[in-house]
Amino acid sequence: MKLKFLGHSCFLVSAGKYSLIVDPFLSGNPGAAAKPGEIDATHVLVTHGHDDHIGDAVEIAARCGSTVYATVETAGRFPKSASVEVGQIGGFVASDFGGVKFTAAAHGSGIAGGLACGFLITIEGKKIYHAGDTGLIADMGLLEYERIDVALLPIGDRFTMGPRDAARAVGMIKPKIVIPMHYDTWPIVAQDPELFRKAVEDSGDARVVVLRVGGEFEF
Ligand code: NI
Ligand code: MN
Repeated sequence: MKLKFLGHSCFLVSAGKYSLIVDPFLSGNPGAAAKPGEIDATHVLVTHGHDDHIGDAVEIAARCGSTVYATVETAGRFPKSASVEVGQIGGFVASDFGGVKFTAAAHGSGIAGGLACGFLITIEGKKIYHAGDTGLIADMGLLEYERIDVALLPIGDRFTMGPRDAARAVGMIKPKIVIPMHYDTWPIVAQDPELFRKAVEDSGDARVVVLRVGGEFEF
């Protein structure tokens, strides 16, 4: 299984015949590692309706015929012709690759009446948690039970957790591996991921893997 960091909060999960893209913010991100037209995705997951997350999701899903995972409100941003698996926080949707659980996030959705979410992806027996945009919330403690292999956590601060709160989140979630995201895209979310690494590894909670944009992690 391979996880590729395409920049900001966008990751591509590749496993066998499946390729899942989460929060494909590519054409609006000058530092992205791919153009939307280069993406081949069987599934597109969107945590919320802010442009730096929904990004190119509608276009990619339409071109690839991907199945979309989104809350009911975010799903409303896709055309009727799109294949969308809707859910809400706490809900699990089974899929032929495993499934997707919608997890709590403390953040606006960018869509009236909607909630932002994260995703817990089960694929090939592994669990990947993409937190979306969120502050530190006690609900993250509930994720320890899930025995997460890889957690993708925002560290940019201002709009989400910063490095210190994200390190506290790691202590609550207890994943094996944690990869920081949602930082350095713009000066207002500039962070040194090495400080996050040090904060996490000093407490011994998990291994931190810092991916450069375009970098890959296999597990
Ligand atoms: Ni947001
Ligand atoms: Mn964001």
